[in-house]
Amino acid sequence: MKPDALFDENYWRSRYSTGRTGWDTGSITPPLRDYFDQMGSADARRILIPGAGRAYEAEYLHKLGFSEVHVADLAPEALAALQQQVPGFPAAHLLHQDFFTLPALPPYDLLVEQTFFCALDPHLRAAYAQQCAALLRPGGTLMGLLFETDFGPVAEPPFGGTREEYRAYFEPYFDFKHFDTAYNSLSPRQDRELFICLKRKA
Ligand SMILES: C[S@@+](CC[C@H](N)C(=O)[O-])C[C@H]1O[C@@H](n2cnc3c(N)ncnc32)[C@H](O)[C@@H]1O
Repeated sequence: MKPDALFDENYWRSRYSTGRTGWDTGSITPPLRDYFDQMGSADARRILIPGAGRAYEAEYLHKLGFSEVHVADLAPEALAALQQQVPGFPAAHLLHQDFFTLPALPPYDLLVEQTFFCALDPHLRAAYAQQCAALLRPGGTLMGLLFETDFGPVAEPPFGGTREEYRAYFEPYFDFKHFDTAYNSLSPRQDRELFICLKRKA
């Protein structure tokens, strides 16, 4: 898969170096926190957070005792921030890699989505769904949040969309367990995001 030419590593590095990180909530968001709190270790041995940014979800899972949490990001600044914040986080699990070129083996049990999908050029959305499926074992889970909102005619991320559009990308590969407006979003995102929990088809 060709990496995103428009929003490449240089683009994302400059967003971090100039502090244009409006997506950064400073801590894990309530929908993901609540999901992780009820998750058993057998549900998710190998976890991947792609486009993780400063990866508050990885910090949270690490502190819950999940030892196979991996994060991938194009921006080394983001990975360094996690390493500084959580010195005990395994350095080998910080993947400075393009999501679309991550190897499919060994497969993951769980993929976590938090403002990564909306950061991609929309023409990559079908490829995102396909790559998520390729990275997960059959029965594995893709969960997280997708903006269900119209950001208008914007030239750079975030890019919004509708649940009908999103459904078409994921349906070929996933069974839908949950795909509805999140009830516990942060207030600026209230009623503007979908909580998704999708199971990779066998
Ligand atoms: C909008 S930010 C979200 C970061 C984080 N998930 C959060 O919510 O704070 C998008 C992140 O995706 C990363 N990114 C963009 N394209 C990527 C790609 N193809 N592979 C891996 N990371 C990518 C960027 O460097 C950036 O850190």
